[in-house]
Amino acid sequence: MLLSVLAALATLNFAESTQCDPSSYHQPAAAHSAVELPLLAGHTRSVVEPFQFAVVAPESRMYTPSLPGWHGTISAAAIVTPALGARFAMYLVNASAGASSTDGTLYEGAPSGLERFLYVLHGTVFVKEESQGERRLEYGGFVYYAPGEKMNTFVGDEGSSFVLIDQVYAGAFKPVSVIGNEAEAGTEFVPGEVFKLRRLLNGSDPGYDFNIHIMDFAPGEYMNVKEVHYNQHGLLMLRGHGIYLLGERFFPVATGDALYMAPFVPQWFGALGPTSARYFLYKDVNTNPLLH
Ligand SMILES: *[C@@H]1O[C@H](CO)[C@@H](O)[C@H](O)[C@H]1NC(C)=O
Ligand SMILES: *[C@@H]1O[C@H](CO)[C@@H](O)[C@H](O)[C@H]1NC(C)=O
Repeated sequence: MLLSVLAALATLNFAESTQCDPSSYHQPAAAHSAVELPLLAGHTRSVVEPFQFAVVAPESRMYTPSLPGWHGTISAAAIVTPALGARFAMYLVNASAGASSTDGTLYEGAPSGLERFLYVLHGTVFVKEESQGERRLEYGGFVYYAPGEKMNTFVGDEGSSFVLIDQVYAGAFKPVSVIGNEAEAGTEFVPGEVFKLRRLLNGSDPGYDFNIHIMDFAPGEYMNVKEVHYNQHGLLMLRGHGIYLLGERFFPVATGDALYMAPFVPQWFGALGPTSARYFLYKDVNTNPLLH
C-alpha cells in the first residue's frame, strides 16, 4: 500500500517536473482562474494593510463595469490605487470585442503626464502607437504608452483580459513607447539570485520611472535577499504557487493572486509549490527617493 502511494507520488512529481521545461515557457497563463481551494463561507485569503501591503485573492475581487477613458463592455477590478498609499494604479481588466480606449491622454479628467502599461492575459488586443504602427497582441504581448502618447487600444476578442498599470510620469526625461512580447525578451540572472528575470519595460534606461519584469522560479527556488527597499511593487501570480513574506507574516500565494507592496515592507518569495512559479512585477524606479 505504502509502496503504491510512493510510486504514485513519484509519477506525479515526474509529471509536474516536466512543466519546468523552458520550452513550455510560452504557454497561456491562467491568471484569472483561481486554483481550486476549498472555500468556507465568509472566508478569504485576502489581507490588506493599507500603506504596507495587500494580498488580493480572486474570490474577493470586485469588478466594476467601467474604467475612465474606456468605452464598450469592460469590467475592471482595481487591485492597487493611491488609496492604498501607492503612486500607481493596477487593474485586472476583462473586456469584450469592440471595447476600446481612444486618445487615452485626452479623456476628460485624465491626469496630465499619464503613462500606461498593458499586458495581455487572454484574447486579442490591438494597439496603435505612432512610431510602431498597429500591432496585434495576444498572451504575453504588451504595450507601454509614454506620457503624451495617444493610447489607442482596441479589444479584438470576446473574453479578452489584461493587466493595466496607469501612473503619472515622475521622471525628468521623454521616455519612448514600446510594443513587444515577453517571448522575445531574453532571460537574465541577477547576481546572487537563482530566479530568472525578463525585462518587458527596462528600468535600466533612466527615461522610465517604472519597470515591468516577468520573474520565473523553478520548484523550490527562493530569493536570497530578504528585500527592504524604497520602491513599491504591484504583482500578479501568473503560474504556480509559493510563499510570500510581507512585513512579518508569511502568505501562501497561488496563480491569480494579486499583491501590493509599499516602500520598505520586508519582502521575500519562495516557490514552494510542486511546479514552477511565475509572476508579473511592477516596480517604480529612477525617481529621486528624496522626493517620492
Ligand atoms: C474574467 O475573465 C476570466 C477569463 O479570462 C474569467 O475566468 C473570469 O470569470 C472573468 N471575471 C469577470 C468578473 O468577468
Ligand atoms: C536595458 O537598458 C540598458 C541601458 O540602456 C541596456 O544596457 C540593456 O541592454 C537593456 N536591456 C535590455 C534587456 O534591453
